Amino acid sequence: MTSVLVAGGATGIGRACVRALRERSVDVYLADVNMAAADAAAAEDLPGRVVIGRHDLAGPDAAREAVAAAVGAYGRLDGVVVTAGLHVVSAVEEYALADWDRTMAVNVRAPFLFAQAAAAPLAETGGSIVFTGSTAAFRGSRGTFAYAASKGALISMTRALAVELAPRQIRVNCVCPGWIDTPFNEPYWAMQPDPSAALGALLSRIPAGRQGAPADVAGLIVYLLGPAAGYITGQSIVVDGGLLSA
Ligand SMILES: NC(=O)c1ccc[n+]([C@@H]2O[C@H](COP(=O)([O-])OP(=O)(O)OC[C@H]3O[C@@H](n4cnc5c(N)ncnc54)[C@H](O)[C@@H]3O)[C@@H](O)[C@H]2O)c1
Repeated sequence: MTSVLVAGGATGIGRACVRALRERSVDVYLADVNMAAADAAAAEDLPGRVVIGRHDLAGPDAAREAVAAAVGAYGRLDGVVVTAGLHVVSAVEEYALADWDRTMAVNVRAPFLFAQAAAAPLAETGGSIVFTGSTAAFRGSRGTFAYAASKGALISMTRALAVELAPRQIRVNCVCPGWIDTPFNEPYWAMQPDPSAALGALLSRIPAGRQGAPADVAGLIVYLLGPAAGYITGQSIVVDGGLLSA
């Protein structure tokens, strides 16, 4: 594994993947919309090279353009990681159609378009794809209709893509984080009248007694990309400190 595209690599889980890959001397193409954070990620002094590009995954051409740029940068592609995601929370009767459509575009359509665009270069290297689902696919919570539906769809699509692409030696898997301490949850904390009480209530529900760190998820993603996971495909694996098991 020498070159991997990370879509959503500027912050959070994606950024931890960029770091973990570069630490292993893997070259990374970082696709994101947050260029300030992408620049900061790229500035880390690590052995693997990094090239960043602005690609808004809500658009229909972003995945194809990002894959072409990654192959152009390094001449090959060994893996695609998609961590970019959108989570819009609203009461059922107020849920805006535009938010539904944008959530599906970023969380489901973009991962599909990455698989479509990357299949040919990944077939040349026996490469692998890792998507990012969520425990929201397995348990309900208020106001998260489009997000939960999108992550459930992503898990189903992972299986379909795995079956389709296995004969070309491309593996497709999905990691499903529980509560991970990243900027993704800032809107949730901002909505809490008493954030420290809300944090206490959250931690009391997580058997491990803490939120996950981005590196907790990145470790699994890097494992799934690599040769030790060479016979694992079509799987969605939960990383949640025991939340769903409790
Ligand atoms: N943090 C959690 O608790 C948690 C829990 C379950 C699932 N997840 C999933 O993990 C994934 C990563 O989340 P995170 O916690 O690292 O969040 P994050 O907000 O830290 O990172 C997401 C990255 O994706 C980028 N991004 C967002 N929309 C984009 C777009 N349209 N085009 C290109 N880039 C875009 C952001 O700029 C950011 O760099 C998401 O798919 C999320 O649904 C997170």
